Amino acid sequence: MNLDWSNLPFGYMKTDYNVRCTYKDGAWGEFEVSSSEYLQIHMSATVLHYGQEAFEGMKAYRGKDGKIRVFRWEENYKRMVNSANGILMVPPTKELFKEAVFTAIKKNEKFVPPHGTGASMYIRPVLFGSGPEIGVKPSKEYTFVVFVTPVGPYFKEGFNPVKIAVVRDSDRAAPLGTGTLKVGGNYAASLRGVEKAHKAGYGAPMYLDSCSKKYIDEIGAANFFAIKDNTYITPESTAILPSITNKSILEMLPDMDIKVERRPVSIDELDSFDEVGACGTAAVISPIGEVYDMDEDRKYLYCKDGKPGPVSQMIYDKLVAIQFGDAPDPYGWVEIVE
Ligand code: PLP
Ligand code: COI
Repeated sequence: MNLDWSNLPFGYMKTDYNVRCTYKDGAWGEFEVSSSEYLQIHMSATVLHYGQEAFEGMKAYRGKDGKIRVFRWEENYKRMVNSANGILMVPPTKELFKEAVFTAIKKNEKFVPPHGTGASMYIRPVLFGSGPEIGVKPSKEYTFVVFVTPVGPYFKEGFNPVKIAVVRDSDRAAPLGTGTLKVGGNYAASLRGVEKAHKAGYGAPMYLDSCSKKYIDEIGAANFFAIKDNTYITPESTAILPSITNKSILEMLPDMDIKVERRPVSIDELDSFDEVGACGTAAVISPIGEVYDMDEDRKYLYCKDGKPGPVSQMIYDKLVAIQFGDAPDPYGWVEIVE
């Protein structure tokens, strides 16, 4: 493949194949490898009317040895099951999920970016209600699709500091809503905030808890973290997505002699942090250089020398080295695609 791998955006690019499977009459059928980018869908499918849909975002990485490594796919599977249960869908079986993901990668092997380009293959499993209903009720039929696309950094800044804007006039999720699930509705609800931040020249919105607007929830499509006195602080909230990247960081920190606090994080604390950042599959670890509170017209500035903070840098180096196979994987997080 002759692509400008080092300059890939985080966007959709057509690859050769995708994998699909349908659940009908109480059972999942055989999965099909397709070269079409389109799905034929019933106009009354529950996904179209009532948003019965969940997806995952995961990545595969090419190592120096040429091998392809998938990062923590079982965690993505568990989260997809949780999302499915949360909006009353039938999840794929673990075997189907794994087969579909690994087949989609293998069939599109040439699209896995070369080692050293910083790019990776993004994997998007999608599950939705495809059976017709008109009353508000769960579908009896489901479609599960996995497609892949090679991607570069989520933020144009890459691992350079990104600017974030606090958004208060729209909410992504309610405390007892679907914020902990990776369902399409949350992203629809986030679009106004994303657009507002972008229009103001910022990379992503910072969402506060929708009840009191006092605590930090998330950064666009990534979790929030802060560093203070060698302590990693990350929000505890009933409205945020449990990030697998954040979970992995939290599991690495004891081995890095960095302390951890998982608790509600007040926006008033922004002043006191040494470093702040966003983490996620797409965002990887994105240091934040500025948080702009538009309503208060107040700026919180970090990375004043233009570089990521030292603790964010250390965490980034360790995580990315495991993902690309440049360092040993003591946690058993990567699985090689054979
Ligand atoms: N929060 C939201 C809203 C997301 O969409 C994502 C992306 O998946 C994350 C956090 C980060 O989660 P993960 O690290 O599992 O990709
Ligand atoms: C991810 O990090 O995988 C995401 O899902 C982000 C995405 C919604 C663009």
